[in-house]
Amino acid sequence: MKRTRIAEVLSRGQIGARYTVMGWVRTRRDSKGGFSFVEVNDGSCLSGLQMIADQGLVNYESEILKLQTGCSIQAVGTLAESLGKGQEVELKAESIQVMGWADPESYPLQKKRHSFEFLRTIAHLRPRTNTFSAVARVRNAMARAIHAFFQERGFIYLHTPIITGSDCEGAGEMFKVTTFDLNHAPEKDGKVDFSSDFFGAPANLTVSGQLEAEIYALAMGDVYTFGPTFRAENSNTSRHLAEFWMVEPEMAFCDLEGNIELAVAFLKQIFASVLKDCREDMDFFNRFIDASVIPTLEALVSQDFQVLTYTEGVDILKKASETFEYPVEWGADLQSEHERYLCEKVIGGPVVLIDYPKEIKAFYMKVNPDGKTVRAMDVLVPKIGEIIGGSQREDDYDNLLERIRGAGLRPEDYGWYLDLRKYGSVPHAGFGLGFERLIQFVTGLSNIRDVIPFPRTPGNLAF
Ligand code: 4AD
Ligand code: MG
Repeated sequence: MKRTRIAEVLSRGQIGARYTVMGWVRTRRDSKGGFSFVEVNDGSCLSGLQMIADQGLVNYESEILKLQTGCSIQAVGTLAESLGKGQEVELKAESIQVMGWADPESYPLQKKRHSFEFLRTIAHLRPRTNTFSAVARVRNAMARAIHAFFQERGFIYLHTPIITGSDCEGAGEMFKVTTFDLNHAPEKDGKVDFSSDFFGAPANLTVSGQLEAEIYALAMGDVYTFGPTFRAENSNTSRHLAEFWMVEPEMAFCDLEGNIELAVAFLKQIFASVLKDCREDMDFFNRFIDASVIPTLEALVSQDFQVLTYTEGVDILKKASETFEYPVEWGADLQSEHERYLCEKVIGGPVVLIDYPKEIKAFYMKVNPDGKTVRAMDVLVPKIGEIIGGSQREDDYDNLLERIRGAGLRPEDYGWYLDLRKYGSVPHAGFGLGFERLIQFVTGLSNIRDVIPFPRTPGNLAF
């Protein structure tokens, strides 16, 4: 089966040339003059291709006049300039074969616009809508741009394990992996005895590839991971998924300043790539989802990112006239309402917030000379809040040991991590970007469930 994608026909098609096109019917309109317009979309681009089906086609009466939204067809025809409004070219069909019918009584995508909530219940059909196919193309272009960014800079793409025995964030929000029959798990001293489980020890789905990325950074310099990440936190919000994709660069011989520089250059290059490579889809998001996405991204490509310390941020928030749901106090974790206030009302753009109190950040972050704060950085953006979390890592053996103990973790579980500080330790830093949150920011889609093909959230495993 040879076909030309509609994206190819529309961008490089030759007038007068013959093409075979395959796709799904979006609309059919019948003209009084004895022909029909059939618009077909194949997902290769947002636009469909208009076909002219004349009554001279052998199956005009028997099939063409019965084509409905969702039917799949194969058409052969000649490309011609279109006289009608809304498209430059159209395909004058010599033949149209129906590949699969779609019963209009039951095919759910009939109305022009459906709510995103409804579309989530039909995740097997939602990529046939403009919004979800545009998201899938933008997601793909962003993934490519992410790899290009790191590859151009000589970073090694590292595959860190999905099943792990360690809890990187130390927060314990992990999914357990076991082959035990949960009703008959062997026990010892009243507790499940994992020594006879598959790995001979408790295992989890990873919450971050950072600790393993540090191992490779401390041998190879600059590495990055880009893979699925799992969090069992029961957060039913528009920015949390139980399964999401994270990008984690890790750099040896790098401090917090170098880390911020990389994060800013990274975001700018991704924004510039999307604007260049996904113009049609971005115009669609700007028109139908959020009229600020293109101007925002265009401004960010050339704008500086503001860097503030946590202490400065808290001072600003305490003086704010706004009443927040959660109170602001030095030492308390910032909520997304606070992060958004700083970005939207104070700075008017992204903010890199650094030097957080050590009590509210992970054990691996390097303690500042003040003894109270750590070399952390969160990149916050309007409408979403945190999209990046990172830090310079604690590279001093004794300090790290103290932090592990202080966090209530067992040093023996982090033996290899401590070893990295014992043998040839160097300053190093890295960050984690939530891929879906970045896609939300770029597309303007307000719910994270709509930027991943098959969202996993508490109570939802439908597909
Ligand atoms: O801030 P987090 O927890 O940082 C880490 O995991 C570090 N180990 C990263 C590193 O330094 N290498 O997560 C990083 C980012 C967040 O800023 C957020 O964008 C995203 O991951 N994220 C989530 N995205 C969707 N759903 C969730 N439940 C998320 N939790 C974190
Ligand atoms: Mg974080």
